[in-house]
Amino acid sequence: MFSIFAAFVAIPVLAQSVFAGDCVRSYTIKEGDICDGISGANNVSTYQLAVINNGVINSACSDLTPGKSICLGYEGEDCSTTYVVKADDTCDGLSSVAGINSTMLFLNNPQIDAECGNLYIGEVLCVSKTVQVPPAPVNGLKPAVTIPATATPVITSSAAQPSASADDSDDDDLPWCDEL
Ligand SMILES: *[C@@H]1O[C@H](CO)[C@@H](O)[C@H](O)[C@H]1NC(C)=O
Ligand SMILES: *[C@@H]1O[C@H](CO)[C@@H](O)[C@H](O)[C@H]1NC(C)=O
Repeated sequence: MFSIFAAFVAIPVLAQSVFAGDCVRSYTIKEGDICDGISGANNVSTYQLAVINNGVINSACSDLTPGKSICLGYEGEDCSTTYVVKADDTCDGLSSVAGINSTMLFLNNPQIDAECGNLYIGEVLCVSKTVQVPPAPVNGLKPAVTIPATATPVITSSAAQPSASADDSDDDDLPWCDEL
């Protein structure tokens, strides 16, 4: 009797979890919002916000409509352990502070380039110890890759070095390095 009841109850729960894309967090856009402001205040990474709202918010995040509700996280792919990038941050430095390795940082933040040269101040990164990133959009877009026009890069072009240093050997196994 109990097992029949349990099976009956379990069906809708199972059916729900099969569909990626169940929104577990949402946010109503307010006047004056910017994407990274929403991300920072709600512990959602820049990449996650961009991927989930691909097609809803444009890549420059210039079309936020006050009053409109957007999704912040999908069930099972919702990283809420986040870090807001500060001046002089490096991938190695912030990974170490967060207690994760760079493999995990790159997996959860696929917009970061292989040299970690495109971090900007105010960017919100997922620093979870497990992979919680939503899958890339099927249309092949790479969300959140470019530094917003209003943001300050952590590495300015004058300071940027074409780095081929020996100390980034921990990035060698990253599968997507070859594509960049
Ligand atoms: C975001 O994370 C910080 C640090 O863990 C926490 O103090 C804060 O309450 C969180 N904010 C939200 C909106 O979840
Ligand atoms: C990075 O950390 C993850 C999670 O702790 C671990 O599974 C993985 O083996 C680590 N990778 C490297 C290259 O150390």
